[in-house]
Amino acid sequence: MKVDVLLGLQWGDEGKGKVVDVLTPRYDVVARFQGGPNAGHTLEFEGNKYVLRSIPSGIFQGDKVNIIGNGVVLAPDLFMDEARELEKSGHNLHGRLHISKKAHLIMPTHRLLDAAYEAAKGKNKVGTTGKGIGPTYTDKVSRNGLRVGDILDDFETKYAAHKARHEQMLRALNYTHYDITEVERHWMEGVEYMKQFELVDSEHEVNRLLKEGKSILCEGAQGTMLDVDFGSYPFVTSSNTICAGACTGLGLGPNKIGEVYGIIKAYCTRVGAGPFPTELFDETGALIRQIGHEYGAVTGRERRCGWIDLVALKYAIMVNGVTKLIMMKSDVLDTFDTVKACVAYKHNGEQIDYFPYDINEGIEPVYVEMQGWKQDLTTITSESEFPQAFKDYIAFLERELETPIAIVSVGPDREQTIERTTI
Ligand code: GDP
Ligand code: IMO
Ligand code: MG
Repeated sequence: MKVDVLLGLQWGDEGKGKVVDVLTPRYDVVARFQGGPNAGHTLEFEGNKYVLRSIPSGIFQGDKVNIIGNGVVLAPDLFMDEARELEKSGHNLHGRLHISKKAHLIMPTHRLLDAAYEAAKGKNKVGTTGKGIGPTYTDKVSRNGLRVGDILDDFETKYAAHKARHEQMLRALNYTHYDITEVERHWMEGVEYMKQFELVDSEHEVNRLLKEGKSILCEGAQGTMLDVDFGSYPFVTSSNTICAGACTGLGLGPNKIGEVYGIIKAYCTRVGAGPFPTELFDETGALIRQIGHEYGAVTGRERRCGWIDLVALKYAIMVNGVTKLIMMKSDVLDTFDTVKACVAYKHNGEQIDYFPYDINEGIEPVYVEMQGWKQDLTTITSESEFPQAFKDYIAFLERELETPIAIVSVGPDREQTIERTTI
């Protein structure tokens, strides 16, 4: 019996997809537990690149079972496009992809509501992905949602009632100029398409599998700083991205959780609006963006770039109970003379080393500057080849974060992954 959880500790896009793919051979099942097509998880292997949105990143490794849990929100049209794309590239999903009947459906009108709420926020926009995530979770919590299981019985009637309610809300928001005829047709095709997959009570399935001695890897989406409770509210997503989300999003007892893998970049990025204490507005930030190809996998938006923030990371490690860290994109810093890490904040003139209630204003990072390693890491295959300055950077982070860095990623490819043996 074993459930490990893998999640992002920053503002998303840490490289979760790549690591899930690398770790999948060690598990029987990979399961998504929250989020939806706001996620964009990139995998590269054998010269191919894939971006997954709703389908778990274990789908490329053998005949593992991949589960979309009850905590996920699913858009049938986008799901169909994504699944068809994978099948076209020769990956058979049949029998391997199970979808919880309790997962909520993102309707076309949820996406309109997402846009309408954003427009109404004026200059305080969240900068959402526009996928209807917030309105769908809102309907779920206010007991107005449509679930995957609903497609099996008298769906048209239920859909029409929900649509009418949304249209009323859109009128109240003065958001009336839209035509979703074509989108709706595609969406309904997606609903039919979904019926060929196993629609299951995934809470029963995961617990049965555990009893049979199978192991499960839970794949987080977004990141801790986007968690609806603990992130940089209100500039967050609408789900619990933290480890506890794996329990509610799959129906797992907390005593089933083993390792909690926290994924970090060697620096930090954010897409969308909201505070980002270590953001760089200078040439260094632009250079990180350029070398790291920091553009959103879903929206293509420029990612904001900055140095690693250890104050925020300590907080993220705490609320998730992280047992091991995995550091991604180390190679992006290869050419820098020095690298910096934020070890404290100056908050209203006072130096603090904890993550405060509000990071929206008055936060200034306090940095430690270290020697860069100035060496290409991308071809390195074992820890013994790490340059000394890189070893020092790792040791510094481990000391500050009081958590071992178990895996270091030195490039986007599956093969460019180094498991450390000295931790
Ligand atoms: P996710 O949402 O956490 O799965 O991350 P994304 O896929 O949105 O963004 C991570 C990006 O970094 C993708 O383009 C990956 O291919 C790429 N990537 C992952 N690990 C590494 C690495 O170690 N080095 C470099 N240079 N790129 C990486
Ligand atoms: P992955 O899983 C990075 C951000 C959006 C916006 C905020 C709310 O690829 O790491 P939403 O559409 O969820 O209501 O938007 O959250 N956001 C992400 N940023 N990576 C993601 O996913 C994200 N999913 C949402 O940019 O600021
Ligand atoms: Mg992403």
